[in-house]
Formats: sequence, C-alpha cells, structure tokens
Amino acid sequence: MAVNDPSTITAKRLTKHIAAEISGADLSKPLSDKVFAKIRELFLEHAVLVFHDQKMNNEQLMDFSQRFGRLDVHHLIEHTLPEHPEIRILTNKKKKDGQYMGAYNAGHNWHTDQSFKEKPMLGTLLLCDECPPEGGNTEFASLTAAYDALSDEAKQKIEHMIATHDRNYSYNKRYPERPPLSDDQLKQVPPVTHPMVRIHRETGRKGLYISLSCIRDIEGMTREEARALVEQLNEHATQPEYVYSHHWKVGDLVVWDNRCLLHRATPFDESHIRFMRRTQIKEDGPFSADAA
Ligand SMILES: [Fe+2]
Repeated sequence: MAVNDPSTITAKRLTKHIAAEISGADLSKPLSDKVFAKIRELFLEHAVLVFHDQKMNNEQLMDFSQRFGRLDVHHLIEHTLPEHPEIRILTNKKKKDGQYMGAYNAGHNWHTDQSFKEKPMLGTLLLCDECPPEGGNTEFASLTAAYDALSDEAKQKIEHMIATHDRNYSYNKRYPERPPLSDDQLKQVPPVTHPMVRIHRETGRKGLYISLSCIRDIEGMTREEARALVEQLNEHATQPEYVYSHHWKVGDLVVWDNRCLLHRATPFDESHIRFMRRTQIKEDGPFSADAA
C-alpha cells in the first residue's frame, strides 16, 4: 500500500475519548503539506497519535517534530544530545562512567509537560529505541472528557480559579537521585499562574488544567485546601474511562497534545533497558482561547 498519501493515511480509534493508531505514514520521509495537514487534523481530533515501525535518525525525528512548531531545548541540558539539544533522552541506560545517559525515572506522577512555564509545551513526541517486555508504559488521561463529565456546580466552582505552578514544588521529593535545581536553573523557571480551566485554542474545548507535582497554591485557598482540590480533580480525571495506556514497542512514535492531556510513565523491571528520544513543541499561540 502507498505510504504518505493523504488518502491512505488511516486512524483507528483506541479509546472512547483519546488516542488513535495511524497507518500509512513513513515519518522518516519528508511529508507533503497535504499529508501533514491530515496528520495535524487527526492530532487535534484524537490528542494522542501512535505510529508503529518508524525508523528515524535524529535529523528525521527533528524534521517531523518541527512540522508541529518550533522545538524546545529543555532547561536540564545534561539530559539532551550534545549535537541535537532539542532531543532529550529518557533512559535507565548508563554511560561507562556510571552516569545515566539521559533523564532517569522521570514523569511517574500524572502531569502535563512544563506546566511550570508561562507557555507550556504544545505537544511532545516520544520515539522508542529500546523498551522492556512489560511495564514502562506511557499513560494518557483526557482533561477535556474529564471536564465535560463534571457537574455544572463543580464546573462553576473551578471556572475562574487561578493556580500557581512551581517547578521547584516537590522537585527534590520526586527526584531524590537528581541534584537540586541550581540557582541558574531556578531563574529560568520562576513560578507562574494558570487558570484551572483551559480553553484549547484550536478545538475550542474546555479542559481541566492541573498538575499534582507543580500546583503549589490556588488563589483564595489555603495550601491544604488547594492540595485537596487538585488531588480530587486528578483522581477524577485519571479514572480508567478517560485513560489510554500505551505499551511501547521498538519503533513506536507517539505524539500528544499537552493542552488537553495528563500523562505519566509506569514502572518496569530495571534489569531491562528503556531508551526513548523525545522532542517538545513550543506553544506560539495564546495559552487559552480566551486569553488572546
Ligand atoms: Fe512528561
């Protein structure tokens, strides 16, 4: 079957609310505008796109990622490739000196990438080079489906709430094996505020905007009240009906929309190697549709 033809690119929905498996695309090849427009449309419809059997070198991964927007360089530069700082490595593989080759043990709490920034990431791409036979999944939860399911009363309660997202909040507790963030790193990620309800600027859909690991405070609440509310909303949003759990195979490339999802990594037997390459897409539009 022809690949990279808009008429033969097909999507198979994976859960009721999010995720689709895409066939008919070879992402190592340059894509025509028509083909990419089709992929972009599916990205907005399903929020998580899964492509299997992709063989991509670093340049090809960057080329495809850049079709979605400008690439981010992560502030923890030690986890990125020296020749391609836009590519971040997530792995438990070690170098000869015993140091990990990339970010180790990251993202086990439900979160949305870099919500601690004024303009959090639009999307993330993750490509699997090595994976364990079991575990090490990436799970996604739909924040729009979770929002839609709230009662009118609950929606009204959170509608105008403003939360402070702080990179340094709980960082040392979550990453005991990493050094604390340096003064320079902290300067790059000062605390920011975001509404608890975000309107996706392209789909127009309302969604929760929460992060267990980064929300430190909510305006008008004590820290304990804020924590209890975020935990309650997180529990609601991550019920099985809103979740897609991706079990990786070598050559899988997954791209997801951070503007309407939570995600997390699940544990695995560390006698196996997991090695992933990641790129992140910057948000060049407004944070929320009504913030233009
Ligand atoms: Fe993440």
